[in-house]
Amino acid sequence: MGGKRGGKRGLLITVEGVEGSGKTTQCARLAKRLREAGHRVLETREPGGTPLAEQIRSLFLGTAAGAERAEPITPESEALLVFACRSQHISQVIEPAIRQGVIVLCDRFLDSTLAYQGYGRGLDVKTLRTLNRFAAKGLAPSLTLLFDLPAQTGLARRRRNDLELNRLDREAKQFHERVRRGFLALTAKEPRRIKVLDARADPDQVEAAAWTLVQRCLAKHQKVSKS
Ligand code: TMP
Repeated sequence: MGGKRGGKRGLLITVEGVEGSGKTTQCARLAKRLREAGHRVLETREPGGTPLAEQIRSLFLGTAAGAERAEPITPESEALLVFACRSQHISQVIEPAIRQGVIVLCDRFLDSTLAYQGYGRGLDVKTLRTLNRFAAKGLAPSLTLLFDLPAQTGLARRRRNDLELNRLDREAKQFHERVRRGFLALTAKEPRRIKVLDARADPDQVEAAAWTLVQRCLAKHQKVSKS
């Protein structure tokens, strides 16, 4: 993403991790640092980020009114709901922001689909990538920060913080372990884009490490934009 087209283009940075990894908090901290450094920033999330995509999110997470009476969602429907959200999100929000030079910080993106629906649910990862090309039209993050910790630790954190548990939070421990292994397998395939941070560390330390990676990515992006 980014590059010479149209002068100063923004870029997409995504944050990923299992439940309870602290990624959402870290995303807000990074946005604050970026704004303090003079950048225009858009914080957004998937599934969601537009009115329609947020509606789909509540169906997806089983938090919509009457969800307790709804039928089970097949893994395939689950994936397609996420891709419907992504298509809306990219065309309505992410692409326009990038064109205007904004740094988009997105809480979850394609890697969550591959980790949850691919490794977690067992759908074919290659098929998911093909569907993603259809929905995302080639948009890929310049940097992905993976806030990693054992699935069990993350789930315990979430329960301790008394957050409302959604349909995916309630999945078995083994499901979340497969998701974590999925994220790590994706990292092994794309080590230049996906950077792993130890989410068990002190939040200030995690933030400092994440900030270093973001600054490095921005410096590279600026060099490419100038050349
Ligand atoms: P969160 O944003 O609060 O972490 O909740 C979003 C949930 O949606 C989380 O359980 C992961 C799940 N999810 C998928 O299963 N596939 C996806 O592609 C995305 C973006 C999220």
